[in-house]
Amino acid sequence: MNVPSYVKHEPVKAWVAEMAALLKPDEVYWCDGSQEEYDAMCQALVDAGTFIPLNPEKRPNSFLARSDPSDVARVEDRTYICSLNKGDAGPTNNWMQPQEMKEILNGLMDGAMKGRTLYVIPFSMGPLGSDIAQIGVQISDSPYVVVNMKIMTRMGKAVFDVLGEDGRFVPCVHTIGAPLEPDQEDVPWPCNPDVKYIVHFPEERSIWSYGSGYGGNALLGKKCLALRIASTMARDEGWLAEHMLIMGVEEPSGDKTYVAAAFPSACGKTNFAMIVPPPAFQENGWKISTVGDDIAWIKPGADGKLYAINPEAGYFGVAPGTSYKSNPSAMESIKENCIFTNVALTDDGDVWWEEMDGEPPAHAIDWRGNDWTPASETPAAHPNARFTAPASQNPVVDDAWEDPKGVPIKAFVFGGRRSNTIPLVFQAFNWSYGVYLAATMGSEMTAAAFGKVGVVRRDPFAMLPFAGYHMGDYFNHWLSFGRNVPNPPRIFGVNWFRRDENGKFVWPGFGENMRILEWIVNRAKGGQANAVESPIGWMPTHRDINWNGLEGFTKADFHQAMSIDKHDWDKELLETDELFIRLYDRIPKEMIAIRTLLLSGMWRSPEHWEMNNDPT
Ligand code: GTP
Ligand code: SPV
Ligand code: MN
Repeated sequence: MNVPSYVKHEPVKAWVAEMAALLKPDEVYWCDGSQEEYDAMCQALVDAGTFIPLNPEKRPNSFLARSDPSDVARVEDRTYICSLNKGDAGPTNNWMQPQEMKEILNGLMDGAMKGRTLYVIPFSMGPLGSDIAQIGVQISDSPYVVVNMKIMTRMGKAVFDVLGEDGRFVPCVHTIGAPLEPDQEDVPWPCNPDVKYIVHFPEERSIWSYGSGYGGNALLGKKCLALRIASTMARDEGWLAEHMLIMGVEEPSGDKTYVAAAFPSACGKTNFAMIVPPPAFQENGWKISTVGDDIAWIKPGADGKLYAINPEAGYFGVAPGTSYKSNPSAMESIKENCIFTNVALTDDGDVWWEEMDGEPPAHAIDWRGNDWTPASETPAAHPNARFTAPASQNPVVDDAWEDPKGVPIKAFVFGGRRSNTIPLVFQAFNWSYGVYLAATMGSEMTAAAFGKVGVVRRDPFAMLPFAGYHMGDYFNHWLSFGRNVPNPPRIFGVNWFRRDENGKFVWPGFGENMRILEWIVNRAKGGQANAVESPIGWMPTHRDINWNGLEGFTKADFHQAMSIDKHDWDKELLETDELFIRLYDRIPKEMIAIRTLLLSGMWRSPEHWEMNNDPT
């Protein structure tokens, strides 16, 4: 094996050699992370038919990939947490005895890279050398993965300088599970359509992924390392690894507050992380900046504040629905140097997806490679089609987004996709109550997840598919974390997705969410913003929100968006009971106590609580 001389880490070398002996690739290639390497690999992907180069005038240095139709999203039913004890994985994770799983994986991986190249991908999650960062080394037989990892992480030989001779790294093995026989012709998106395993060994802190080449299944730094493995590290070491965006909110005074928000997959983190404030706010000097759009690692500092970094270097964002109207900064971020997966190709060599600006093209090639017109019955882009874009291209990226120290967090926001029940915004009475709200969060499922689209499922902390250990222990970790911080961030719930009796969104959302954010930031700073006590938390009345420049959203609309219906909440509490019963062996006693308090508050409130205290 040809190991570059800059690799001085014997355990990495030994592990790569061991894996190569098992996987039996034709070649081993150590990625250096250079631009030349990236360009050469993109060209090779074009030659192999995996990448279609886009029109260099419309979308410079960008490519389109179409995945196999069996390989379009994370596979939650094939994702395992193989802790030594079944109890430590908990009832919300798939589990198998680690030795048994290793036997299966060793069998599948034996010779799985025949006819292919094994790429060694060294990467840092977080700025190189930051105290909060972690290093991983991924082995993969997918050049598509290599170029995506180059955008999504700090990838390349500088990682070995940080690792030195004995630094800690997370070994990540990935194969698409599609060996090539000598005379076999390759396909544009090789994968194993029948067998997939996404496996985590939390005690060993290692990751094994087999059979898929897509997104979180294959870019192992993202969900596998930065959430599932990191959450177990965080539990053991006293920090947090969360499915959260991080944003800066600058007021007219110049004062800046950082907020972290957890929304389930495809529920608006990328949108919220870069919202454009309404004109009236911009004129007054309000500014929003992005630190991260998907993952936050948070550690208490010596000064008692909580510091957060974005472990990623790029955005792997949902394409459909992204437009200059809904998210102009995302549109600017994807102008060049991007990879698009499962979007449509226009006749002039550009990309298109549902709800992009302007008229749909009269003709396009859809994500499966078939002719498409506006009359077609199937969507042009897959609903979970994604762009991979460098974060540095975001015009509103925060000045401190690569600061190794991180940014201080003052508020946590939690929000799912709910047509009913959950009001537009409310503030938790205290930390424990906030943990309860986050723990019991529900969301209507989207194409990013496994399950029936539209059905509500409990998604505690937006971490249901990403917690690397027992969810009850996870709640406990949050409770004890808050007890050890002198002035913990305030916790809020939001719901941008409430609908009226005709199925229309009640709240305009997107940039208008700035109005809600202003109230949140003011409350989190202990400012003057008023609130009334509702049965489920503190809430703004109509006059507590800045409505400047918003036409057509009446006070009655606001009350509808904020209303609390007792019958809906009876149902909500029954559903949270189901979650608590599932987690019963390890649920913190506080959760049960708060549920009881909430029930008693609901019971004495009117049938339909509608801002009856609104004095305006
Ligand atoms: P992952 O990358 O899967 O973790 O998801 P994400 O949370 O970053 O999702 P993203 O921002 O890509 O969510 C996109 C979806 O949310 C699209 O369907 C948007 O239309 C919708 N969305 C975002 N913000 C709003 C909003 O304020 N109101 C409404 N109604 N929809 C919104
Ligand atoms: C999510 O599903 O929450 C994502 C996309 O961010 S993936 O990386 O594919 O998991
Ligand atoms: Mn995500």
